[in-house]
Amino acid sequence: MLNNINKTVKLKNGIKMPMLGLGTWLASNGQEVENAIRIALDVGYRSIDTAAIYGNEKSVGKAIRESDIPREQIFVTSKLWNSEQGFNSTLKAFNNSIRKLNINYLDLYLIHWPVRNKYKESWKALEKLYSEKKVRAIGVSNFHIHHLNDLLKEADIIPTVNQVEFHPYLTQTELKQYCSKYSIQFEAWSPLMQGNFMSVPTIHNLSEKYGKTPAQIILRWDIQHNVVTIPKTIHEDRIKENVNIYDFELTVEDMKKIDSLNKDHRFGPDPDSFNF
Ligand SMILES: NC(=O)c1ccc[n+]([C@@H]2O[C@H](COP(=O)([O-])OP(=O)(O)OC[C@H]3O[C@@H](n4cnc5c(N)ncnc54)[C@H](OP(=O)(O)O)[C@@H]3O)[C@@H](O)[C@H]2O)c1
Repeated sequence: MLNNINKTVKLKNGIKMPMLGLGTWLASNGQEVENAIRIALDVGYRSIDTAAIYGNEKSVGKAIRESDIPREQIFVTSKLWNSEQGFNSTLKAFNNSIRKLNINYLDLYLIHWPVRNKYKESWKALEKLYSEKKVRAIGVSNFHIHHLNDLLKEADIIPTVNQVEFHPYLTQTELKQYCSKYSIQFEAWSPLMQGNFMSVPTIHNLSEKYGKTPAQIILRWDIQHNVVTIPKTIHEDRIKENVNIYDFELTVEDMKKIDSLNKDHRFGPDPDSFNF
């Protein structure tokens, strides 16, 4: 039974990443995101996901610095935005993120989207940042198999993480298997289908069966699939609810029931048709 809020996974370079963290997309800079992070750290979260484009790095950093938790116990992820891709511009963008967050290093820096003809140069910059120990791990986000194949042809370092849209309607089986083959940790964004999980009958049935909420059923499914998950909420009751998933276990049969809900349906953009 996976029964610990501090459950981590070891990334391919040996560092540990919490299996569950707090997402912060659409959590506004200022009181909103600061409160959410304060509550999350109080109840035991040790991982925060932000990005330059979210416009909240300043407050994310403030909440982390003002907490009683030592910096080294909190796993901080940020991401390189599309318009900043390229070698020198990536180095500059990283410095901007660090300056806004006002912390000395990132735990994980991701290329946010695979911008055509740019992501390989950007990756070289991430490799430089990693070799200079400015970031403890580097990875990608929204990379399909063909993007990864292309990147791996020239990369000196294989990405440690691929953060992609993943939930019961988009199970990404082939990509997940590919990542597993290269020990690239799979991480789910929009794990709660951006809030659209309420209308899924199977999830409701399982919620009744286990006496857990629909959100807890889905997040538990992530963890049992060894997928790192970062549900976003700014509400105290949901922050607590979303991490209270370590006192039950889905059976193999129920895991398969959720797997079978896949419709290859995206709530976010497809990386192949994203308007970069
Ligand atoms: N790499 C990328 O391209 C990318 C893209 C999208 C997201 N992300 C990251 O992934 C994180 C999570 O994804 P997401 O924010 O898109 O969506 P999500 O976590 O799937 O869903 C968030 C929505 O669900 C609601 N919610 C959260 N917990 C709930 C609960 N227990 N019961 C009912 N509703 C609940 C939230 O509302 P309230 O806040 O009002 O509670 C919010 O509207 C983001 O915040 C971001 O950090 C990354």
